[in-house]
Amino acid sequence: MPQKIVTANWKMNLTLPEANTLISEVTNILKDEKRNSAEVIFAVPFVYVQYFSSFLKGQPFAIAAQNCSEYEKGAYTGEISAQMLASVGATWVIVGHSERRLYYHETYRIVGEKIQRALEAGLKVIFCCGETLEIRDKNEHFEFVKNQLEGSLAEITAEQMKNIVIAYEPVWAIGTGKNATPEQAQEMHAVIRNYLKQKFGSQIAQDTSILYGGSVNAQNAKTLFACQDVDGGLVGGASLKSREFAEIVKSYN
Ligand code: 13P
Repeated sequence: MPQKIVTANWKMNLTLPEANTLISEVTNILKDEKRNSAEVIFAVPFVYVQYFSSFLKGQPFAIAAQNCSEYEKGAYTGEISAQMLASVGATWVIVGHSERRLYYHETYRIVGEKIQRALEAGLKVIFCCGETLEIRDKNEHFEFVKNQLEGSLAEITAEQMKNIVIAYEPVWAIGTGKNATPEQAQEMHAVIRNYLKQKFGSQIAQDTSILYGGSVNAQNAKTLFACQDVDGGLVGGASLKSREFAEIVKSYN
């Protein structure tokens, strides 16, 4: 069975005091829950990784970075390596988010390299994929997402795949308030799971968590997460509101 996972992706939001207030509120609400069946991850800006890793020590919450370098180390001014992130307490990293592909020109090859560096450093990976509206309108979305997967997971072994989670985030649903319908999410997640089955075998396919992202909120989370192949969410805007994000996590209780 795949682990249920709800990840907050704060993106480039919140000063440290604001972030402190938010994370304290969320963890306070959730610690009173009798049953927390989903793993909860906070993907925070680089500069807060160490601070919140220490803050959450001993609590059932994990810290992710939102990106890492495709290089191991060296003369790459301004970059942050996967090893650095692991050394300050991150246990996860998001790789291949559509905003990075679009604004920072990350190619399939670069995303693939980042996955390798992250796994070498002992981090677990949330690997994002998803089509634009233009591609969906042409009815090429299944092919496109399969190409994204193959483009960056080609060199990944079944053993490595145990430390990778897939996040399907249709670009047209990100930050638009227009989430994929449960049917649209389910059919793409089934295609992704089938890809995993063909490439890595049934066991890996059954055990890999496939998260949905794109305008997830407290209203739609329950029906989206109820889909057979949706194993949780990657939440942007709604993760910046403590009550709302806690409600999304509680969809699993
Ligand atoms: P929104 O939840 O704001 O649509 O963002 C989704 C996302 O990009 C999470 O990584």
